[in-house]
Amino acid sequence: MSSTRFLTGITTSGTPHLGNYVGSIRPSVRASLRADVESFYFLADYHALIKIDEPERIQRSTLEIAASWLAAGLDPERVVFYRQSDVPEIPELTWLLTCVTSKGLLNRAHAYKAAVDQNTAAQEEPDAAVNAGLFMYPVLMAADILMFNAHKVPVGRDQVQHIEMARDIAQRFNHLYGDHLTLPEAEIEESVATLPGLDGRKMSKSYDNHIPLFAPREQLRKLIAGILTDSRAPGEPKDTEGSALFQIYQAFATPDETAALRQAYVDGISWADAKHLLFERIDLEIGPMREAYLALMNDPARIETILHSGAAKARQIAAPVMRELRQAVGLRDLRTQSGKAASTVKSALPVFKQYRESDGQFYFKLMDAQGRLLLQSVGFASPKVAGQTIAQLQTQGASALAELKDQLQWGLDVQAQDIADALQALLNAKTR
Ligand code: TRP
Repeated sequence: MSSTRFLTGITTSGTPHLGNYVGSIRPSVRASLRADVESFYFLADYHALIKIDEPERIQRSTLEIAASWLAAGLDPERVVFYRQSDVPEIPELTWLLTCVTSKGLLNRAHAYKAAVDQNTAAQEEPDAAVNAGLFMYPVLMAADILMFNAHKVPVGRDQVQHIEMARDIAQRFNHLYGDHLTLPEAEIEESVATLPGLDGRKMSKSYDNHIPLFAPREQLRKLIAGILTDSRAPGEPKDTEGSALFQIYQAFATPDETAALRQAYVDGISWADAKHLLFERIDLEIGPMREAYLALMNDPARIETILHSGAAKARQIAAPVMRELRQAVGLRDLRTQSGKAASTVKSALPVFKQYRESDGQFYFKLMDAQGRLLLQSVGFASPKVAGQTIAQLQTQGASALAELKDQLQWGLDVQAQDIADALQALLNAKTR
């Protein structure tokens, strides 16, 4: 059961618009429904602090983006859905990565370079008004991704460099400390990265050409009426090429519906009628979600609860990884011998051992990386059943413990958390 791990985040700096929905929210919800995919979705609120110093706006945006994701159908039971700042292991990993990242690599990051170029053009100091957070942005993002050993990161084109940097940083870490981190890959949403806005340029908050995802119906109608078109009169054939209206329609419609609008363009549909079609088509998809969205916005406590349980799930994975990485870099318990510890670092994984006793029965035990007994099974009549029980623990982790409680005995002084950590470490190692 080795599934692919998908991970993506949205910076909590604004109100989601149709471009965010088509480019990020909708594809991530769809991917989360695939059985062969394990998904991690999070609200990148630490990233938001880099460009926003208005606390109310950060809070509001976090609520809006969480509510949007949920209203769009994200099932928090199926995925790991959390807020970045609820997982302290992420900033902890950020520091370990910072110390293996060359400053030169960060000098070359697009976002930082763009700021420097702008300053230079304005004859300012190169780093004027650039905070160190902007400079470190790629490292924090690498920590987001590497923390969960994600394989695929669905992002728009503008983020591809960041994923490549995360790979570079992971490679450098692995080179220095052993093979701990998975090298992630970008998964580019070609078709959707470019939803045009009202003026035909890419829909973006910074161009002020966007349509808020959950604008009330009447406002949605008005905004759509404002989409830039050419001046062709009703009855005149119209060009789909370069028509923002057509492209937005296409992002919502089925291929048949799109073909029908293409024909209507040829037949000279009026811009007013085309806008009406677009409005109704978008509202057909978004309308029901809007209801759910409003209900969620009115119940922040519910979202807070969902995010907390998501963070608990995330930390269950992150905590053992972080323990392993601390070991690897030398942030260690002083009672362990450095020579010995060093040799166990790379293979610091718990193990299942199967054996047969003189009573003729088949047993297994789970030992932690230091050889301490964590779990001891009862005797099984066949090796097959013993093997199946191990497999159940390997695939389900700690959640299998309750069901297997009559077949298992805990080692002396062993805490539930020790067992959960060991099983999680095995799971993490497998999904790499
Ligand atoms: N930088 C991304 C953006 O602005 C958001 C983000 C933060 C992210 N951490 C991430 C995306 C990790 C993917 C993976 O769009």
